[in-house]
Amino acid sequence: MKTKRISDKVEKALNDQMTREAYQAQVYLSYASWAECNSYAGIATFLYKHAHEEREHMFKFIKYINDRGGKTKIEAIKAPPADPKDMEECLKNVLKHEIDNSAAIDAIVNLAHEEKDWATFNFGQWFVKEQIEEESLANDLLDKFSLASKVVGNNANLYEMDKDLSSAPQGATIPQEEKF
Ligand code: FEO
Repeated sequence: MKTKRISDKVEKALNDQMTREAYQAQVYLSYASWAECNSYAGIATFLYKHAHEEREHMFKFIKYINDRGGKTKIEAIKAPPADPKDMEECLKNVLKHEIDNSAAIDAIVNLAHEEKDWATFNFGQWFVKEQIEEESLANDLLDKFSLASKVVGNNANLYEMDKDLSSAPQGATIPQEEKF
């Protein structure tokens, strides 16, 4: 049993964020499945991979809470939103979810600063940086989409974009037993 080195308030904020990261994964999973059903195979692969990345974030919170002598509380994850009406809405929603998530991370960093909890402050910095990357990635996706969809009546650009995204780099790797 470790000595508890985080306040109850920080512990609760970290637990809430751990659940939020799990929710983010559900959002990406639902959009990935929607994209797959709508024949965007490359975008679906990209979004499935990103769902794994969000679960890795969730695990980082679990590990940190427990390492600091806190207790991780695994709770229910709320359902993801309804399917988007089209790819543009899907990508806009992805960006919005990331911006909301950045605000939640900022709140944790603010709380850690207020409490002079420098360990949590330092832990939070990894996520601050990660959110810059994630927002940038979502913005890039939207830019690519708006460029690719400019030629009215010609889906060739969208087809190329979809193919590109199936191999676009990102942090997460997919477990061997799953084939996307
Ligand atoms: Fe873990 Fe995309 O935020």
